[in-house]
Order: sequence, then C-alpha cells, then structure tokens
Amino acid sequence: MKILVVGPGGREHAITKALSRDPEVTELHAAPGNPGIAAIAQCHPVEACDGTAVAALAVDLAVDLVVIGPEAPLIAGVADAVRAAGIACFGPTEEAARIEGSKAFAKDVMAAAGIPTAKSRTCTTAAEVDAALTEFGPPHVVKDDGLAAGKGVIVTDDIDAARAHAAECERVVIEEYLAGPEFSAFALCDGNRSVLLALARDYKRVADGDLGPNTGGMGAYSPVSWLPAGVEDELAATVVEPLLAELDKRGAPFSGVLFPGLVLTDDGVKVIEYNARFGDPETQVVLERLNTPLAGLLMACATGTLKPDTQLDWSPDTAVNIVIASDGYPSRPVAGDTITGLDTAAAVDGAHVLHAGTALNDDGELVAAGGRLINVVARAADPSQARSTAYEALNHIQLRGRVVRTDIALDLT
Ligand code: AMP
Ligand code: GLY
Repeated sequence: MKILVVGPGGREHAITKALSRDPEVTELHAAPGNPGIAAIAQCHPVEACDGTAVAALAVDLAVDLVVIGPEAPLIAGVADAVRAAGIACFGPTEEAARIEGSKAFAKDVMAAAGIPTAKSRTCTTAAEVDAALTEFGPPHVVKDDGLAAGKGVIVTDDIDAARAHAAECERVVIEEYLAGPEFSAFALCDGNRSVLLALARDYKRVADGDLGPNTGGMGAYSPVSWLPAGVEDELAATVVEPLLAELDKRGAPFSGVLFPGLVLTDDGVKVIEYNARFGDPETQVVLERLNTPLAGLLMACATGTLKPDTQLDWSPDTAVNIVIASDGYPSRPVAGDTITGLDTAAAVDGAHVLHAGTALNDDGELVAAGGRLINVVARAADPSQARSTAYEALNHIQLRGRVVRTDIALDLT
C-alpha cells in the first residue's frame, strides 16, 4: 500500500512511524512532513491546507491512501478534494469536520443527540454574554466559536477577564464549568461504525501544576489507569455512537478519527469538545502501544469497511510523551534556535524522539520552527519507569529557553 501522510507535526511523525512498521506499507510520502519524518518517508513541499495541491500530489504519486493529520486541512475541505480526485482518504469531509471547526455547531449536534456535555449559550452581544456568565457563575468558561488550536478558550474566576475575552470574539460560546480530571479518547470511524482506541491523558496548560495559559498539549500518557472499569463501553454508547448517528442523519457521516475531549465528573463522563482528528501529543503514546498494523485500519475507515468487532492488540506497557516547546511558547514562540542532543536522547534504552515544529537551517543544523518542537516518547512495563526514562532522554536535548513541564505523568497511578 502506498500512503501519503498530510501534515507537519509530531502527530504526523507518530502516524508515519506506525505506518512504517506495517509490512503492508510499501511506500510512504509526506506533505510537507518535517526533518524527523524525512528519515522514514519521502517529503514533498506541499502545503497541508492546499486541497488542489495535495490531491494533485496524491494522483501524481499514485498513492492508495491519503491520511490527513491536522484539523486545519480537514476544515478546509482537503479530504473532499482528495476523494474528488478518486483517491481514498482517511479524514472527515469539510461538512463533518465542523464538529471541531464550530463550537456552536458541535453544541447543537450534542444537544440533538442527547450527549452528556456542559450546558452552554452561544452569544453575539455583550448583553447575552453577561446573562450567560451570570447564569453559570464562576469558574467562567469562554470559547471563541472558531478554530483556535486550543488557544481560543479561557477558564477564569475573573469576570472582567471573561468579558474581555468574549469581547474579542465575534461569536462566543459560554459554558458551565465541568469539574473533574480530563482524558482523551480516539474512535476510528467509517461513517457508521466505530472502534475505540486506547485512552490517553493530555496536559493542556503550559506550566507545572496545570498553571498558565492553554496550549496544544505539553505531554501525554496511555493507558489511563485511574479511570473506572467499563468506561470504554460507556463512551461508545453515550459519546461516539450517538454522535455518528446524528451526523449521518444530517447528511454528514463522519469517517476518520473522532476525538472527544472528556471529563470524568461526579455524574459520569461528559464531553468538553469533539475534534475531527488524532490528538497531539496523545497520538504519540497511543500508537506507541498499538501492535495491530495501522494501514489496514485507516484504509477500512476511508472505504467504509470497518469491522465493528475489530479486536486491537495493545501493549500493556505505559507510554509517556513529553513535549519540548520553544522559548516564549505559547504566546510568542521564538524560531531559529538550534536543537542538539537528539541522537543521545534517542539512544536511551526504551526512548525515542519524534519531531514536530523543527526545520533545518542553511548550515544543516536542526532549529526551532514552530511552537511545539520535539516529543520525547518512552515506554516501559512499569509506569514510573516510563516516566523516568522519558525525562532522562529529554535531559540530553539542548535548546535555549526551552519550555518543558516537569510533572508529566506524575499523576499516572
Ligand atoms: P477546548 O478547546 O474546548 O478543548 O478547551 C480547552 C481546555 O479548556 C480544555 O481542555 C479544558 O481544560 C478547559 N475547558 C473547556 N471547557 C471546559 C468546561 N466546560 N469545563 C471545564 N474546563 C473546560
Ligand atoms: N492534545 C489536544 C489536541 O490535540 O487538541
């Protein structure tokens, strides 16, 4: 099978790496990829969000399958462009990707499907904002209706800060606060059927102790041993299946990976949001534990042939991923600083390194090019060993002013 992976990040490196282990995969391409992906796939300088160019590349390369990683190309309709060119594509249509692209649409679908989630109001005026903030009380949850890479949401006790954020957004969703630990689920979907992958925990805030602003995610682990038994069945029945049925009913069946962000509340599991793609940095730990070959699963989603009784083979090991971000992340990430020590880090037994926002400069040195730069992934049978191996490897990597959390996976057990 010849596959083109679309996207530049750590998630795409993890997907490409898992595909490279699959004996069915004969050729791997990436658009645009990154310097880490370039070691295992042929990279092409094509923008992920340019549907015409991605489809043309897929036709040119005569790939069997295109796998789209990030949300922006999905919301821009790149999967539709690929399918229109006659090539199978893993990733939802522009229409179905609205479940991530518009928070107001997502809330409407959830209400119609009876999915457990925070109560919310969609507001366009200051008066509506004030009424909703008063109705729900603190902590205030204020979300920009559009796509903001995890950064359009504020959670605050300060009503003035909540009002100020709302005033910056054209349309805003104000919600009831959901208290409880968060976790992430991924369901492979083919339009009607779904198969749940192993669960993961992500760390959204930039600083230790869950302080500071929201980010795309600073680290992750899988499995999530503190969840109650039977949570997977609850998720399938209350979070995944009703959503697929509702989107199908609206003429926008969802294929690809559905990624609900979840909270374990005192009243059971509730949905914070749905994403239309794999999570980053969670994918890195989930795929690390997946022994079942990946290509056939993604192809089955793309072609509507997923078997609902699919049994996946998971390593019982714990996998931990720690993100290294550039100085200034998330508000003003600095580009251009050199990153060294990756080989020494990857040589640590049980650890490896995945690239995200890295690039090579004119001298061929690895440099910071984005916000989140590197993922250090480790696995071990003993969860605390997985954590200490990841930090040991991470400490071999040098970058001026690097932003790293030191408490990833501390709450693992
Ligand atoms: P989102 O972009 O919707 O995933 O929100 C980013 C983060 O804000 C989430 O991961 C949560 O930590 C927090 N958050 C969002 N909505 C709520 C809510 N209703 N209650 C509590 N925390 C929330
Ligand atoms: N890690 C959360 C996300 O990918 O949105």
